Amino acid sequence: MTATFALARTAAALVLLLALAGARAQSPAAPRVLDSLAERTLPCTACHGAQGRASPAGYLPRIAGKPAGYLDNQLRAFRDGGREHSGMAHLLAPLSDAYLHEIAGHFAQLELPYPPPEPPAAPPAVLARGEQLVRQGDPARRLPACTSCHGAAMNGRLPAVPGLLGLPRDYLLGQLGAWGNGLRRAATPDCMAQVVQRLSADDASAVASWLASQPVVRTMPEAAGGPAPPIDCGSGFR
Ligand code: HEC
Ligand code: HEC
Repeated sequence: MTATFALARTAAALVLLLALAGARAQSPAAPRVLDSLAERTLPCTACHGAQGRASPAGYLPRIAGKPAGYLDNQLRAFRDGGREHSGMAHLLAPLSDAYLHEIAGHFAQLELPYPPPEPPAAPPAVLARGEQLVRQGDPARRLPACTSCHGAAMNGRLPAVPGLLGLPRDYLLGQLGAWGNGLRRAATPDCMAQVVQRLSADDASAVASWLASQPVVRTMPEAAGGPAPPIDCGSGFR
C-alpha cells in the first residue's frame, strides 16, 4: 500500500467516524449539527444502499426492517469478533453498546418496499430441492425446516431472528460457509452452526439459490412467541 493510499484511507475512515459521532460541520457558512440518526448513519448507507435497502445483486445485506434485536446482536458481534469484517469492525470499534442499540433501532423501524428478486441462478430441479429443504427440512439428516425458526413467510421473528428473503445468493452462501468454518458465531448454543453441519455443500447452494429467487411477501418480522425452535438457540428467541 502506498503512503498516499494509506493516508486517503485514514482520511475516509475519519470522515465516517466523525459522521457517526455526530460531529459539527466545520464551515462557518453552514454551521449545523448532524443530529438525526438518519444523517449520522449515512456512512452505513454508502455500503448498505440508501436507507439500508441494499440490492438483491452483489454481496451486501439489506439492514432496513430487520428485527432490532438481531441488528443489535450483529453490530456487537462485528465490533467484538463474533463476526469478521474488518471495515465494519473499524467503524464500530469506538461505539458504545448504547449507541449500537440506537443505530439498530433506527434501521429496524424502516418499513420500505423490496425490489424484485434476481432471476433464479440454478436449474428447476435444484430450486425444487432448495424449496423442499427450506419448507420441510430433511429428516434423514435431522435437518429442521428453515421456516420452523425463520417464519412461514421467511420474514423472521421478533425479537432477533432475521428473515431469509431479499438477500443476495452470494451473501447467503457466504454466511452458511462462515458458520461452517467457525468465522461466524452466534451466542451458544449456536443453533445455526448445527443447522449448517447438517447441510451438504450442494444443499446449501440449492437453498441459497431458491431463497435468493423468491419475492418478499411480508416485509416486517413476525411477532415474538409462536412455537419453540426445534433446536435450542442462544440467540434469536430471547
Ligand atoms: C465498507 C462497507 C460497509 C460499511 C461502511 C458498513 N457496512 Fe455493514 N456490512 C458490510 C458487509 C460487507 C457486510 C457483510 C459481512 C459478512 O460477510 O458477514 C456487512 C454486514 C452488516 C450487518 C449484518 C447484516 C445481517 O443481515 O446479518 C449489519 C447489521 C451491518 N452491516 C450494519 C452496518 C451499519 C449500522 C453500518 C454503519 C455504522 C455499516 N454496516 C457500515 C459492509 C459495510
Ligand atoms: C433452530 C432455529 C433455526 C433453524 C432451523 C434455522 N435457522 Fe437460520 N438462524 C437462526 C437464528 C437464531 C439466527 C440468528 C443468529 C445470530 O444471532 O447471528 C439465524 C440466522 C440465519 C442467517 C443469517 C442471516 C443474515 O442476514 O445474515 C441465515 C442466512 C440463516 N439463518 C439461514 C438458515 C437456513 C438456510 C436454514 C435452513 C436450512 C436455517 N437458517 C434454519 C435460527 C435458525
